[in-house]
Amino acid sequence: MKNAAFNLDKNTTKSSSWIKKKQTQPLKSPLSLLLILSLFLFIFLFISFFKITPNSLFSKTITNNPLISQCSKFQTLALGEKFLWYAPHSGFSNQLSEFKNGILMAGILNRTLIVPPVLDHHAVALGSCPKFRVLGPKEIRVSVWDHVLDLVKTGRYISMADIIDISSLVPSSIKAIDFRVFASLWCNVNMDFTCSNDLNAQSSLFDSLNLCGSILSGIHGNVDKCLYAVDEDCRTTVWTYKNGDEDRVLDSFQPDEQLKKKKKISYVRRRQDVYKSLGPGSEAGSATVLAFGSLFTAPYKGSELHIDIHEARRDQRIQSLIDNSEFLPFVPEILNAGKKFALETIKAPFLCAQLSCASLGFVGTAGSTIADSIELMRKSDVCSKS
Ligand SMILES: *[C@@H]1O[C@H](CO)[C@@H](O)[C@H](O)[C@H]1NC(C)=O
Repeated sequence: MKNAAFNLDKNTTKSSSWIKKKQTQPLKSPLSLLLILSLFLFIFLFISFFKITPNSLFSKTITNNPLISQCSKFQTLALGEKFLWYAPHSGFSNQLSEFKNGILMAGILNRTLIVPPVLDHHAVALGSCPKFRVLGPKEIRVSVWDHVLDLVKTGRYISMADIIDISSLVPSSIKAIDFRVFASLWCNVNMDFTCSNDLNAQSSLFDSLNLCGSILSGIHGNVDKCLYAVDEDCRTTVWTYKNGDEDRVLDSFQPDEQLKKKKKISYVRRRQDVYKSLGPGSEAGSATVLAFGSLFTAPYKGSELHIDIHEARRDQRIQSLIDNSEFLPFVPEILNAGKKFALETIKAPFLCAQLSCASLGFVGTAGSTIADSIELMRKSDVCSKS
């Protein structure tokens, strides 16, 4: 029998070499390799699962595998670097002021700013802080993610840094990363965001992008040491920084009794030092990604709606960041195009003013040429059309 088997093998060289291989180098067979790999993967998943469980029980985090594995994969890629995301919204000037606040927060918290795209005009709306009627941080982060994916799909993605020149700040004052680069790493997808035709075809890719967007938005809760989704917004918090005030004192602007009764709201606005709340040593401070909601602020009734950091005399690094980011220029391409237009097309000294119907309510002085123009706009009824 033995001989017969041997002879048979000899006739078919393929099977004989296979048997030989199997006998001498059992570890190199694809099946054993697969087994060993799955064992490692199993142990890895097992460890990750139990590492995350205590926190998830506490913060009601769901413990599905994509959440955990995606976050830990990203942490491995991040090599200790920490990131800051926020949700831009409303019109361009709003987005620009939020961008500047993002730069400020990235400086204070020493995190790499994730530079967002320019969103379509009012594609995402916040609501009204004075009326305490705003989209919550989670909801607005989801809306922004959805809109950004839409910009990618339709090939209309333009980064904020394609418009506003931040080269004087990056990387000397803050670190920054393009959202598309971040999202590729965060979602663990190898994709070319500039190639929209490819993306349209891959609906499964967008399914996974939707999932990782919902994770980044914090709708599944925080992920221990990986993601901290800020829950504070203008209804509860005015961020301060080293201003010498006591931390967590009441802000001067609070919802009035009528509003509290009518809307059944119980918001209390406190002034909180952002570094103490979200900086090193805090739970948020240890997270690889920190996601804010809206970073919109505006003066209101003697206070600020959400961020009251206009100077940082106790921190020279942040003070110079505030000074240097007050007026950020357009990128050279835009400035040069403007200069060319002025020189070759207008060919005369001129004053440029942008007037929009939304601004009409805020312009009070009459008699200037701008006010006259506004009056003209009113009379010619340009605003009722939109
Ligand atoms: C900022 O973080 C980096 C590590 O990411 C660290 O090396 C650096 O000292 C930090 N800078 C400040 C001012 O905290």
